[in-house]
Amino acid sequence: MDADHVPSEITSVLLTESQIQERLAEIAAQVDTDYAGRDLLLVGVLKGATLVMADFVRHMKSHVHMDWMAVSSYGSGTQSSGVVRILKDLDTDIAGRHVLVVEDILDTGLTLSWLLKNLGSRGVASVEVFALLRKPEAVKVPVSPRYVGFDIPNVFVVGYGLDYNERYRNLREICVLDPWVYGG
Ligand code: XMP
Ligand code: MG
Repeated sequence: MDADHVPSEITSVLLTESQIQERLAEIAAQVDTDYAGRDLLLVGVLKGATLVMADFVRHMKSHVHMDWMAVSSYGSGTQSSGVVRILKDLDTDIAGRHVLVVEDILDTGLTLSWLLKNLGSRGVASVEVFALLRKPEAVKVPVSPRYVGFDIPNVFVVGYGLDYNERYRNLREICVLDPWVYGG
């Protein structure tokens, strides 16, 4: 689906498909270099990071392992609650592993700081973060991702994995959702 298919629900296209793919290729090359000679486990955060992960790993030139975690911090609204729950844990024992968490968006930082603490307590060799998007103005808990795709303004965005009430994940672009959609 493209923004053109739902024009009344979208205020603007923030990032096009080609902008996203170009940036993913750059970061993939960086990760290939940084982790050369080490076994890397990518941990995707469900469900938002599914599309990032799918494209990102195909830009990489090294072997990687993938695993997934599902956490809830938002409910169905557009505000982070700060309460994080594990809905699905990793299948992998990550002790001694080099872990790179793949996230769609770093907003307040509540989810990622909790996740880093959780993963860090499992005896990992290293744990770093790749966030496709970051909202610098929204940060409440500082998290220092090693890789960031794009810094974006503090607006609610959808598409490329990001949803509002489970819709818009299949948009090719990252778009600003028109506030009427969520009654804002
Ligand atoms: P925090 O605030 O904990 O949020 O850093 C991280 C999670 O919240 C979701 N999130 C969004 N989802 N558009 C979305 O579709 C947004 O603008 C947005 N901001 C935060 C997302 O699931 C992320 O993992
Ligand atoms: Mg998410």
